[in-house]
Amino acid sequence: MYLRNNRYVALIVCIFLVSAGWLAIQAQEPRRNPEAQKLKNPEATNGESIEAGKKLYQRYCASCHGPTGKGDGGMALAGGTPADLTDDTWDYGSTDGEIFVAIRDGVSSDMLAYKDKLNEKQIWQLVNFIRSIGPKK
Ligand code: HEC
Repeated sequence: MYLRNNRYVALIVCIFLVSAGWLAIQAQEPRRNPEAQKLKNPEATNGESIEAGKKLYQRYCASCHGPTGKGDGGMALAGGTPADLTDDTWDYGSTDGEIFVAIRDGVSSDMLAYKDKLNEKQIWQLVNFIRSIGPKK
């Protein structure tokens, strides 16, 4: 009985350590993506591209990220909080390439990958639109 209790305690300690490690990794923000940083945005940042991005945004993204990108769209699939795309805080990196990869590959069970719904040109247009509503540099 004594032995069994000890094993139980050891198991609890193990679970605790694994969770603590996981949380520590999760807390390391922002998660930079060096590969994505190398991507060059091939879409010129002009009115036409931003307008195309805006249309895509309204169709695919506004339900969660809100009509103006403040993250107040109200929808979330897995209970996450949609990111405010108008602030200068980027949890997955702030370069065009990192934002592109976050949209293309997704980052969570709320923020899903869009590579099957949108082509690369459309994702770059979204990047240009998001830039246009973000803080001016
Ligand atoms: C079902 C809700 C939902 C939809 C639809 C959605 N997102 Fe998200 N998005 C989220 C959530 C939640 C997060 C925060 C993820 C996290 O940090 O765990 C997020 C994060 C992001 C990020 C990362 C922001 C940062 O701080 O680094 C970008 C960029 C983004 N979304 C863009 C888009 C674009 C563009 C679309 C449309 C093509 C879109 N999202 C559609 C819920 C959504």
